[in-house]
Amino acid sequence: MKIAIVGFGFSAEKSHLPAYKNRSDIDVKAVVDPVTSRRAAALRQYPNIRVYEEFGDLLEEYSHEIDIIDVCLPSTFHLESVKQALEADKHVLCEKPLVLNKGEYDELVNIANERKRILYPCHNYKFAPSIVHATELINSGQIGKPLFASFNIFGANFQSELSQWKAELPKNQELSNGGIMIDHGLDAISVAQTLFGGCPQHISAHIRNLNKTNSQLEDLAIFCLDWEQKLINITVSSLGSIPKAYYIIQGTEGEISIDNNDIFLSVKNEPVKKIFVPTHFDEPGHGSWFNGLIDNLLDCIKTENTKPFSLIEAGIILDIIEKANHSSKNGGAWVRI
Ligand SMILES: NC(=O)c1ccc[n+]([C@@H]2O[C@H](COP(=O)([O-])OP(=O)(O)OC[C@H]3O[C@@H](n4cnc5c(N)ncnc54)[C@H](O)[C@@H]3O)[C@@H](O)[C@H]2O)c1
Repeated sequence: MKIAIVGFGFSAEKSHLPAYKNRSDIDVKAVVDPVTSRRAAALRQYPNIRVYEEFGDLLEEYSHEIDIIDVCLPSTFHLESVKQALEADKHVLCEKPLVLNKGEYDELVNIANERKRILYPCHNYKFAPSIVHATELINSGQIGKPLFASFNIFGANFQSELSQWKAELPKNQELSNGGIMIDHGLDAISVAQTLFGGCPQHISAHIRNLNKTNSQLEDLAIFCLDWEQKLINITVSSLGSIPKAYYIIQGTEGEISIDNNDIFLSVKNEPVKKIFVPTHFDEPGHGSWFNGLIDNLLDCIKTENTKPFSLIEAGIILDIIEKANHSSKNGGAWVRI
């Protein structure tokens, strides 16, 4: 499949590109980025590709050579670029969050359906090796029936070293990534869905902007999901200094905990088993998770599956986030999903 990357920043260079380089089924043909140094960085990696300042120019001149557009732009720009790509009859892989609200989501899903193109949001936590392994452990029945889970995901208000391009934006240009729920809340809900399947029925949330000096956006969310008779308690923050993630799942017969590259399985009356599963939650970008995601995208394209699971999940998560905001504004009251 021939691919063009739109936005050659941190995600494109550190996460997507290393995976593409090791695959014979993906051929990177072009990169779009308005910043000269970023186009130069792309050319250093792929001297024979075409580079464009404007996405419109690529679509006009080189569209016939491209099957998939990989959107790695800052989140505020996803809507317009994904729309342009779908309307040019391209399949689209888009970094998460696909868009920032349900109205924008519905608009893109309608276009993808009309054009019969695959629209695939990068919900990469579903492919994190320790999450995949823990899902297998739960499904094997070793901890019995899951009853309670607690996730703690601490991001680090991460500024990529490649973000100097922001200085070139017009003043007042809104670059919101949607705040902590859209950023890490999305990942946490996606992990819960991977581990347990199904959907939550109610949410109670407290969402705050504690470090007001950094941004107008919320940096902490503590929320509880009532998930088919399980309670899932989630804390996500961008207040940390390095990214960290801890997960605990307690069942009727035992417990699974995940601490970065280690899974601890404790089953009643048995010694705790430590399982090493290199996952590197503490490395931003999570490049090593990307291969499984690409396999799934290519499979959706091959089988003409226009409803990839991550696309359905993106809509459900945006709905949950709207309800979380409503709950938080009402003092953390339970809200039906
Ligand atoms: N899945 C993950 O784990 C993960 C991790 C980090 C970032 N992300 C997501 O990836 C996306 C990009 O984040 P990033 O950290 O790579 O950003 P970044 O700031 O490092 O890079 C953005 C790039 O887009 C370019 N750009 C800006 N405006 C453009 C335009 N109009 N047309 C083309 N290029 C343009 C910039 O020059 C820059 O090279 C965001 O949506 C973010 O949420 C996902």
